[in-house]
Amino acid sequence: MDKPDKLYKRSHMCGALRAENIGETVVLNGWIQKRRNLGGLIFCDLRDRTGLVQIVFDEDAPRTLFETADNLRSEYVVGIRGRVRGRASANSALATGDVEVFVSDMIVYSEAETPPIYIKDDDNADENLRLKYRCLDLRKHKMQRNLRFRHAVAKLTRDYFDEQGFTEIETPMLVKPTPEGARDYLVPSRVNAGLFYALPQSPQLYKQLLMASGADRYFQIVKCFRDEDLRADRQPEFTQVDLEMSFVDADDVIAVQEGYLKRVFRELLHEEIETPFPRYGYREALERFGSDKPDTRFGFELVCVNDAARDCGFRVFADAIAAGGDVRGINIEGGAARLSRKDVDKLQEDIKVYGARGLAWVRVGADGTTASFGKFLGEAEMAAFTELFSGKPGDLILLVAGKSKVVFDSLGFLRREIARRFGLLDDARRALLWVVDFPLFARDEENGGFSAIHHPFTAPRAEDIGRLDTDPAAVRARAYDIVLNGVELGGGSIRIHDRALQMKIFEILGLSRADAESKFGFLLEAFRYGVPPHGGLAYGLDRLVMLLLGEQSIREVIAFPKNQTAVCPVSGAPGEVSREQLAELALTLE
Ligand code: AMO
Repeated sequence: MDKPDKLYKRSHMCGALRAENIGETVVLNGWIQKRRNLGGLIFCDLRDRTGLVQIVFDEDAPRTLFETADNLRSEYVVGIRGRVRGRASANSALATGDVEVFVSDMIVYSEAETPPIYIKDDDNADENLRLKYRCLDLRKHKMQRNLRFRHAVAKLTRDYFDEQGFTEIETPMLVKPTPEGARDYLVPSRVNAGLFYALPQSPQLYKQLLMASGADRYFQIVKCFRDEDLRADRQPEFTQVDLEMSFVDADDVIAVQEGYLKRVFRELLHEEIETPFPRYGYREALERFGSDKPDTRFGFELVCVNDAARDCGFRVFADAIAAGGDVRGINIEGGAARLSRKDVDKLQEDIKVYGARGLAWVRVGADGTTASFGKFLGEAEMAAFTELFSGKPGDLILLVAGKSKVVFDSLGFLRREIARRFGLLDDARRALLWVVDFPLFARDEENGGFSAIHHPFTAPRAEDIGRLDTDPAAVRARAYDIVLNGVELGGGSIRIHDRALQMKIFEILGLSRADAESKFGFLLEAFRYGVPPHGGLAYGLDRLVMLLLGEQSIREVIAFPKNQTAVCPVSGAPGEVSREQLAELALTLE
């Protein structure tokens, strides 16, 4: 038995031992996963990030060694030396299952108290507990695999973009507060009392400056910060693969991305994905799937029934259309038997968050069709309705009436939710697609003003520039989003590189000349001295890794994520600061 201050230089990782190693003397370091004492023999599983291997202590070994082995407990950290031998009964569930290590020496580097969570992948510990004891949680095989996979994605990203002539350039983390949509995280300046930096929501302005600087092709794996409400696929600090290219149009940017994703899937998942990816116009995506990030792995496509509903006897439908809205629906094939009235009532509740007032339904039966609005429609009208959806006996048609956005959001949710319940969200399928032709602006319903759908630097389509003065809502953007299985992986656009056009866009967005100068003066200034046409895109790296691994939450692919209330459960951040610190920053708290 060696003293704990000694270090055994390891010869192998635990998960690497195979039958070929039988007969070798090896040195391993790791954690005790579990111990079984079978009288004269003690078996332990020894774990490191590569996996587990069985180690064996025999009572014929020196007494101190056997006694120490008998006192080993889960999560003790040890080093062992021993001979590899074949296992009497191989364990085919384990990569190292053909072998075990017969221990001759051991060091106990450190002991461990009973851990608050089990170190095993199928441990169902509460997520908050997992996040609090993250260093234990990360010992799990799955979490180590996730971290390693994320590293592999980052490495491949660097290799690919390097080969394509991109240079990785770091942009500042302390930037000017210029809200891009979400709220900024602010950092008070001590040297310039009363002034604040913001943490970047993205490197957007700097990467455009880099194009004006002649960098030609820039990329960066970069932290971004947005103070927004959290969801399973959002974090307040997250990582982007951000890139920008000079002298390109949208097709050039898209081609580089398709090459990138093809490589990611081929090298990391050993899957061939087909390129080019299909492109859907924004309007088409909404009209067919009720979403600008459509999941095309399953059907249930939307059908517009305005023509049939306009003059039908059901006032809810007729009124919605008269008010400028829509009536649209989806046919859930075979849904009549699988979704009860109670289920439909519950779905009706669910879509209230999108502003839907109700959910109308039609159940197509072999001997008659029933509908929630059946009494308002004649038989012929009902048959015509069903026909629009190619309804067959056993089908369930769900319809929503109201403002377009309410109808799209509700049906978009319903088709995905029902697909989930019916087990149609096949993770093995990769529905990769582009959504293009977004409108440049969204109209604010309350004040009638406009906001940028992507960001204010996105260029309008050349043929629409004339409409900027007359009909801004009809102007389409040179923007593109990349969507995988209904999740927005990334987005980008061709940018404005003309000072006058940029000023005009600011003006439409309601920014005064003075405001534009104060917020974006440095970009406008750069535009005076020769700026190339340019465009780019940013991926959410966390989301990309999450989807590639089939995880449901980005917290599973981030080493130390924030929880749902933007707190770091490990350190407890955010924390209080002392009066002295506040005084130094010229800040006072109410
Ligand atoms: P955008 O705001 O669309 O574009 O962001 C790009 C991608 O970043 C990811 N993402 C997030 N991931 C996790 N948590 C968040 N809170 C979060 N917010 C965004 C998404 C998203 O598609 N500057 C532009 C890009 C450009 O035009 O080149 C931008 O930031 O996957």
